[in-house]
Amino acid sequence: MTTTAFDDHERSRWAGRATAYDRSFALLCAHPAAALLDAAAVDAGTRLLDVGTGSGTVAGLACARGARVVAVDAEPSMVDLARSRVPSADEVRLATLPQLPFDSGRFDAAVANFVINHVGDPAAAITELRRVVRSTGRIAVTTWPHPPPRAQRLWGEVFDAAGVDPPTTVPAVDTDRDFPRTADGLAGLLDAAGLDDVRCETITWVHRTDPEAWWSGPANGISRPGLLMETQPPAVIARIRASYDELTAAYRGADGLLALPTAALLASAAVP
Ligand SMILES: C[S@@+](CC[C@H](N)C(=O)[O-])C[C@H]1O[C@@H](n2cnc3c(N)ncnc32)[C@H](O)[C@@H]1O
Repeated sequence: MTTTAFDDHERSRWAGRATAYDRSFALLCAHPAAALLDAAAVDAGTRLLDVGTGSGTVAGLACARGARVVAVDAEPSMVDLARSRVPSADEVRLATLPQLPFDSGRFDAAVANFVINHVGDPAAAITELRRVVRSTGRIAVTTWPHPPPRAQRLWGEVFDAAGVDPPTTVPAVDTDRDFPRTADGLAGLLDAAGLDDVRCETITWVHRTDPEAWWSGPANGISRPGLLMETQPPAVIARIRASYDELTAAYRGADGLLALPTAALLASAAVP
């Protein structure tokens, strides 16, 4: 199995960032969790693999349904946090797509919530999920669409307003390994892995979040905006913060929370 420059970049971006993720973007990523489990037909007794579990949101929800959950993540701080958050999981361990330490057909279902957008070879990742799920079991994944939804676009506008240029050399998935970040593109990725009954939908919602929580992700190095923020001197961070306050004002409700429209792609399929 090949590890790409993008995978190495991802390892360094998540290193030690479990708490920062948990306080910020984990709240955004939690929204499709129930729909993801439904799409993978997860119920009481389902042997489920949650890949890239992060702080354990999906694993915890699956345990609450009575599923028998194994959760893995490539980042040790995520494994530690998920293990403490989801004590009823059968196992929480370190493992990295596209090579999972499980026998073929061990699980009834596998899910990956906003993880295939963090792997250097998405097709190899889906093929590996297929391998560890038994015949007729289901796989379900989410990712962000392109063009980015409003909530995510806002960061670019904040940086523009603060006069900060995006980094010029950000590692990306090699073009020959990438797929279109659309419902058809994601469905095509699952189709190409030889899966059956491929379904893909776009989920839209409004992410309601404390402005400090939304700021704290990138301010602590989370996501692509975080990559830019961590190289800026304090004076520039102060400018970015001023633009952030100005541009998020339009999304602030009477309760002080931001209401940010967003969307995700959710795809699922059955193993032949
Ligand atoms: C956006 S977070 C999503 C976390 C979690 N699924 C959730 O819903 O909150 C992406 C997670 O995938 C993990 N990850 C990234 N690349 C991975 C890989 N190749 N194999 C396993 N986990 C990976 C990261 O460490 C991180 O915890």
